[in-house]
Amino acid sequence: MKTLKIARTTDELRLHADAWRALKHTIALVPTMGALHEGHLSLVETARRHADVVIVSVFVNPTQFAAGEDYDTYPRDLDGDAEKLRAAGVDLMYAPSVEEMYPQGFATTVHVEGPAKAGLEDAFRPTHFDGVATVVAKLLIQSGCHVAVFGEKDYQQLLVIKQLVRDLDLPVKIVPAPTMREADGLAMSSRNAYLSRADRERAAVLYRALTEAAAAIRNGASLSEACRKGRDMIENAGLIVDYFEARNAETLAPVEDATQEPLRLLVAARLGQVRLIDNIAVHET
Ligand code: PAJ
Repeated sequence: MKTLKIARTTDELRLHADAWRALKHTIALVPTMGALHEGHLSLVETARRHADVVIVSVFVNPTQFAAGEDYDTYPRDLDGDAEKLRAAGVDLMYAPSVEEMYPQGFATTVHVEGPAKAGLEDAFRPTHFDGVATVVAKLLIQSGCHVAVFGEKDYQQLLVIKQLVRDLDLPVKIVPAPTMREADGLAMSSRNAYLSRADRERAAVLYRALTEAAAAIRNGASLSEACRKGRDMIENAGLIVDYFEARNAETLAPVEDATQEPLRLLVAARLGQVRLIDNIAVHET
């Protein structure tokens, strides 16, 4: 097994990254918050297909959690993560401390509009994408990666990052990766670990509702009717729906004409204290 390098500071990260670039190796970065699962590891596989060297960052980013959210209880298992990354043949794990990322006096926020203001996650987590954009901008710049891989699981986040990279002329190619699911369709997520056994079974309704609504739209149902049924199905299973919406897959703008635009269905729902999000394509045009 190849050795996994571990960097705890930006200087250490840069030392390795500079050496790889001097050798003309291309670098792919997979940003994560750890508690790694098969979804994360599938991003590593995608990264490997796009570059010579793969770096995975593991950093539970405090600035993307609002007060009252799960920052303190977010699952953390750095040793377990290192084992998984070693087994996956990753070259380097970058696991900075909060003080390393945000030293005393840190005073910059990267604020994206456009997809970050679509009225989806941002409506329920108004400061979330500022935190995400700021930390991802830092990670891209710190690593100097050529490619960075993001999951479609967090679809709005993926579009926010694409916007950020385009607007700031960052020399990075953003590669999307498909959502990995459990056998019953539930999208893999570090937060699934919070679910009780009964709630874990209920949670599968999210994907069932998305697939049924997508099929209904493909068969000619109106968007509002399909989304209303999807929402009802999830609420009947005992979840509270934050949103269930059909949007333009490229901009997240509300859809004018369902037959003319690439469509994505996006959902967020709460099961007790646990908030779950998911999305699927209806059709690409
Ligand atoms: P995290 O939730 O750990 O997710 C890290 C990456 O894994 C994201 O790109 C996410 O979309 C992807 N991912 C999560 N579950 C997935 C699944 N079931 N299938 C495929 N990919 C999946 O997203 C974050 O961390 C943070 O916001 C971060 C970008 C690291 C910034 O802090």
